[in-house]
Amino acid sequence: MRQSELEALLKDMSLQEKADQLLQLNGTFYTGELDEIATGPIMEMGLKSEDICQAGSILGTYGAERLKEIQKKYMEKQPHHIPMLFMMDVIHGMKTIFPMPLAMGAAFDPSVAYTAAEIAAKEASVSGLHVTFSPMADLVRDARWGRVMESTGEDAYMNSLYTAAQVKGFQGDSGNLREKYKVASCVKHFAAYGGAEAGRDYNTVELSEQTLREYYLRSYQAGIDAGVALVMTSFNTVNGVPASVNTWLMREVLRKEMGFEGVLISDYAAIEETICHGVSEDKADAAEKALKAGVDIDMMTSCYSGHLAGLIRGGKLEEGILDEAVMRVLQLKNKLGLFENPYKDADPEEEKRWILCEEHRKAARDAACKTFVLLKNERDSDGTALLPLKKGKKTAFIGPYVENQELLSSWAVTGSKEDCVTIRNAAEAVLGEEAVFACGCPIFGNDMEIPSFNGNIRCDVSEAERKGMLEDALKKASEAEQVVLCLGEHSAQSGEAASRTMLDIPEIQMELFREIYRVNQNIVVVLFSGRPLDLREISRKARTVLEVWFPGTEGGNAILDVLTGVQSPSGKLPMSFPYCIAQEPLHYDHYNTGRPNPNGRVEKFRSRYLDAPNEPLYPFGYGLTYTEFSLSEVRLDREQMEADGMITASVIMKNEGTVFGTETAQMYIRDLTASVVRPVRQLKGIQKVSLMPGESRTVSFEITREQLQFMASDGKEVLESGRFAVYIGTDSTTENCAEFVLI
Ligand code: GLC
Repeated sequence: MRQSELEALLKDMSLQEKADQLLQLNGTFYTGELDEIATGPIMEMGLKSEDICQAGSILGTYGAERLKEIQKKYMEKQPHHIPMLFMMDVIHGMKTIFPMPLAMGAAFDPSVAYTAAEIAAKEASVSGLHVTFSPMADLVRDARWGRVMESTGEDAYMNSLYTAAQVKGFQGDSGNLREKYKVASCVKHFAAYGGAEAGRDYNTVELSEQTLREYYLRSYQAGIDAGVALVMTSFNTVNGVPASVNTWLMREVLRKEMGFEGVLISDYAAIEETICHGVSEDKADAAEKALKAGVDIDMMTSCYSGHLAGLIRGGKLEEGILDEAVMRVLQLKNKLGLFENPYKDADPEEEKRWILCEEHRKAARDAACKTFVLLKNERDSDGTALLPLKKGKKTAFIGPYVENQELLSSWAVTGSKEDCVTIRNAAEAVLGEEAVFACGCPIFGNDMEIPSFNGNIRCDVSEAERKGMLEDALKKASEAEQVVLCLGEHSAQSGEAASRTMLDIPEIQMELFREIYRVNQNIVVVLFSGRPLDLREISRKARTVLEVWFPGTEGGNAILDVLTGVQSPSGKLPMSFPYCIAQEPLHYDHYNTGRPNPNGRVEKFRSRYLDAPNEPLYPFGYGLTYTEFSLSEVRLDREQMEADGMITASVIMKNEGTVFGTETAQMYIRDLTASVVRPVRQLKGIQKVSLMPGESRTVSFEITREQLQFMASDGKEVLESGRFAVYIGTDSTTENCAEFVLI
């Protein structure tokens, strides 16, 4: 439709019809089927049937046949036959599930996330969906927060690269949403949801405006610059005002300063929850405040549908502000081509052709291999490491993840664990008789019960069963030359509403680990987790530790690819792994303070703990390979840089080992003196380099003024002359550095 036709349509709509265009309901209201996915609390809504016939969009339902049926029936009843929008949390895959976003961040390669989003968009669009609530662009620094699994990590630069890549993957490089196999993308949660105090989900966020702008807003800006069609509000307060009614944040910052012109949707029930926050008197007040703040769609409450018409009739709201919101929703539907083709790509035949096809499975397997992080691979006295596994040696695969198909994260709501390849499936296919298997113990003890999207999860194993599992595991471990111990969190222990006060692996698994260690010390730990964990005991005792996160549908195959050396590990930590939880929140780009305490120095009056180091156990950017790389000193092509100039920093990287490998050169910059404190370093460039044994290559990074600018306390980007340090290394602790002066 032309804009003039949209305007004519808007003009012809009643007040209530306009208000209902901003209402988003769960698909259950149209199918009555209980298996629609509820991803938040179902409020008492008090809807009229008229509202349901006119709601502008639904979430939580998918399937070509089902959505075509809903659309057909809905449009017959909708007074102007306006098509409905179908939205869903397709976070890291639709049915072919890729590694969770934090794992994708470990690839240190945004193109991996681009491919995952592109494939997810194809499977989602043929399933009838128009919009995905992805990517989550929240900066995360506290491993206690369950949703760190949904972010790409603690670094603003990396998150910006990944957010832009995912938006382009979902929407297409051209951003033409009418294109086949594309869906509209939604950057979330605006803003700074990841800063929840004490890592407790939905908790208060307290941060300075300078921190908000310098660290937290960067990745949302990258999504907007990539053309994202929607932004979602966050549950938290910013400067004491809940985001969904925060006019400064939404109209001043998001729309005016950051240039976002698309649809702003609230998070689930977030508008009504402003009553609970204590800033809205009732639903009418919440509706008035949210619309004034510029929120277009009210997800899963009846604040808008129940009160906007009355507020306008009562003179408390201008009709123009309602029209502005409704027009943005109509324009989104128009950009998707829904007025001409309300079913877009929904096609049962295409679903059969593309969903979980071999091409998609292979892409998910390749992606997973790139996300695994080798944390330790100790050589024994004759210089041999346990990985890659040596042919001809008997390996016992032990642990609750050996046969577990729950390799998807808790945000893979459209995926099916039944589609997953387990470690056992893959090991039997690859290693045959050389591999034996034992679960050893349940994933957690009878004392635990974990809520999940699909109800509470418990493991009820009798003492006799548990004893038998352990005996079987110990027998197999004692008869094998090496043990691959497959341990980790349950996927429901991370994700939304899954914050933890301990970063431990369930105790029953640690008991198994200690028992196995007694009979065989050649242990490779394959670790499943949705977040950084406290790995002190495991990293002390196991010879090898491989972090595999939640690797997705092809997880088992990818793990065997890396264990056997078909693929070399190349992942790098996107979040610091703490020495202990008490260090949280923890991030590499911290300030120096006036009394720094570099590694190991013990002086009283320094910024330090009495009982733990300041440094993480494993730092941001860290990850080993199956070979060894060396880096030369940092060379700069000049020592001074003009403001509009450029400096090239380079190193020579060499594969000093005997096997192929891929290393990631990371460039960090430190502004040594500025008008506000600047972090001890910030990542400003990454380059993945694959080298054969003995091969070397020059790796160069261009340094421009954009990389030296920062947010001053007045919120303006500034560039200040002075000394800068450039670090180039293979993780964030590198001291390989050179200095230059910006004049
Ligand atoms: C949830 C999440 C949000 C998700 C939305 C719809 O509460 O916070 O990330 O997209 O509801 O499911």
